[in-house]
Amino acid sequence: MSENGLGEDKESGKRALVAGGGGFIGHHMIKYLKKRGYWVRGVDIKEPQYEATSADDFKVLDLRRWENCLEATEDVAEVYQLAADMGGIGYITGNHADVARNNILINAHMLDAAHLNGASRYFYSSSACIYPLYRQNTPDIGGLREEDAYPADPEEGYGWEKLYAEKLCQYYDEEGKLPTRVARFHNIYGPLGTYDGGREKAPAAISRKIALVDDGGEIEVWGDGLQTRSFTYVDDCVEGIYRIMYSDHSSPLNLGTDVLIGINDLVDLVAKVAGKQIQKRNDLSKPQGVRGRNSDNTRLREVLGWEPQTSLEDGLTATYGWISAQLANKPSEVAASK
Ligand SMILES: NC(=O)c1ccc[n+]([C@@H]2O[C@H](COP(=O)([O-])OP(=O)(O)OC[C@H]3O[C@@H](n4cnc5c(N)ncnc54)[C@H](O)[C@@H]3O)[C@@H](O)[C@H]2O)c1
Repeated sequence: MSENGLGEDKESGKRALVAGGGGFIGHHMIKYLKKRGYWVRGVDIKEPQYEATSADDFKVLDLRRWENCLEATEDVAEVYQLAADMGGIGYITGNHADVARNNILINAHMLDAAHLNGASRYFYSSSACIYPLYRQNTPDIGGLREEDAYPADPEEGYGWEKLYAEKLCQYYDEEGKLPTRVARFHNIYGPLGTYDGGREKAPAAISRKIALVDDGGEIEVWGDGLQTRSFTYVDDCVEGIYRIMYSDHSSPLNLGTDVLIGINDLVDLVAKVAGKQIQKRNDLSKPQGVRGRNSDNTRLREVLGWEPQTSLEDGLTATYGWISAQLANKPSEVAASK
C-alpha cells in the first residue's frame, strides 16, 4: 500500500471516463487519475477553459444525447460522472427548467450507457443541495447527516434533480446492473474554477472582487453575509471521489468539511490572504440560498477512515493566488462590482 492507503500509485492499464472533464472538478479529476497511471478519456460540451487537458483522449460531446453517451462510455471500466448544467446560487435559482431538464437527460442517459457498455464502476456527483430546506433555516446549523435527506424538500430544480439521480444510481446498483457510488459535495473551491460570468461560487466571486479592488476599498456581498457554509478544497474532493469509488459503500456519502463559516467572515479571510483592508456592502436583494449548511462527516470517517484535510486559509491562499494572477492578465474585462 502507498502511504495514503490507496494502494499502488500506478494503476496502469485501467481505463476511465471523466464526464464533465472540461469543467472545474472534472479537469482536476483527470489530472488525479493520470497521476495514478490511468488511461483517461475526458468528455464535455466544451474544452477546459483555463488549462489544456491531460486526458489521453478528449471528446466534445453533448451528453444530453443518448448516442453521445454511448460513444463516451465505450471501452472504459470506470465512469466518473461530473457533467452537469450548474453554477452558483444566482444561476441555479434563476434557471430551474433548463437545469432540471438538462441534468436529468445527462444522468439517465449516462447511467444506462455505462451499464450497456459494461462499465465496472460508476461514480455520481450529487450535492448538499439535496438536503431539506427545513433543516437549513438557521446560520448555526448542526451538520447534515446522510439520513437527513428524507422526508425530501430539496432545492428547487437542481436539488430535486440531484436527489432523483441518486435514486437512479441506487436502483441500478440494487438490481446488479452497475455498481454505483454517490458523493454529496459541499461547496468545492480551488484554482482553475470559474470566477466570473455568473456561474461562479462564493469563494471565487469574493476572490475576484477582492483582487480587483484597491486596498481599503469596498465590495458587494450577497445577502446579509450571516448565512453560513462549509467549504472543501478541490484536491480533497478528487481524492475523496477516488476513495469513495473504491469503497464498498454504495449509499450517498457527504464529501465536505465540517468547518462552518459565515459569508462575511469568508470575505474577511480572503481579504487577510490578499493582504488588503476591505469594506463590505451587503446587498439584501441578491440571492443567498439557505441560511446555514454544514456537513456531518461521521459516516465519511467511518467508511473511509479519512476526511478532507486542507484548511480554508491554505485553500483560499492557493485559490486567491490563482484568480488574482488570471485577472492581472486581463484587468479590464471583468467588473469588480458584480
Ligand atoms: N463545485 C461545487 O461546489 C459542487 C457542489 C455540489 C455538486 N457539484 C457537482 O459536481 C459536478 C462537477 O461540478 P463543477 O463544479 O466541476 O462544475 P462545472 O460547471 O465546472 O463542470 C460541469 C461540466 O459539465 C459540463 N456540461 C454541462 N452540460 C453538458 C452537456 N450537455 N454535455 C456535456 N457536458 C456538459 C459543463 O460544460 C462543465 O464543464 C457537477 O455534477 C456538480 O453538480 C459541484
